[in-house]
Amino acid sequence: MYAVVALGGSVLNVENPDRVRKAADLISEALESGLKICAVVGGGPVAREYINVARELGAPETALDELGIAVTRLNAALLNLALGRPEADVPETPAEAAETVRREGVAVCGGTHPGHTTDAVGAMIAELLEAPLIIVTNVDGVYDRDPSEPGAQKLRELDADELERLAFEADLEAGGSFVVDPVAAKIIRRGRVTTHVLSWDDFKSVGIEGALKGRHGGTIIRG
Ligand code: UTP
Repeated sequence: MYAVVALGGSVLNVENPDRVRKAADLISEALESGLKICAVVGGGPVAREYINVARELGAPETALDELGIAVTRLNAALLNLALGRPEADVPETPAEAAETVRREGVAVCGGTHPGHTTDAVGAMIAELLEAPLIIVTNVDGVYDRDPSEPGAQKLRELDADELERLAFEADLEAGGSFVVDPVAAKIIRRGRVTTHVLSWDDFKSVGIEGALKGRHGGTIIRG
């Protein structure tokens, strides 16, 4: 069985070496149990720093995305090192990542193309592999509105149409941000990708198999 794990840059980055080690341990544990895993790593604060500086320089948004992608790929290389795979290539497309997982049983990748985040890359790979997706992020699940707003409620389960609606609505608001980007939400819906959204703390204690069984306090989107 295949599983795709998207580790957001806010949870896995060079500023948290212990988490890189722990993520590698959790992936190794799941591999030993027979799962085939694709991990997709985000860019984190380093990506944001590069993007902010380049934006001040007046660079076009696509060029900023390319900077972000470069940082995600650097983080992917770091996770490969923690997994004891120093010679492993970081796949450049979702198809290449899926093919690597089918062949080798494991792959670690970062971003691929401008215009979306690594969550969308994770959703694309999950769609290709017909696999479930685990999104590990800095929020403990999907909320019905911005979690900082009073009265915001965490949703235990929601359907993919609702996820897509919430993601697109948040994207339309200035400065609006949502736990899953709209492209990822669209792929999750059309690919019928069962998706678990949970925090790092939750992920750390339940691991990949526990997350796939829904033994977490986050949100489940049934594919
Ligand atoms: P992340 O996936 O880390 O995005 O990619 P994020 O959602 O901003 O970060 P977290 O998870 O909340 O910390 C960093 C940036 O790299 C570019 C985008 O600009 C993104 O914001 N990127 C990434 C792409 O353009 N395409 C990709 O496939 C991946």
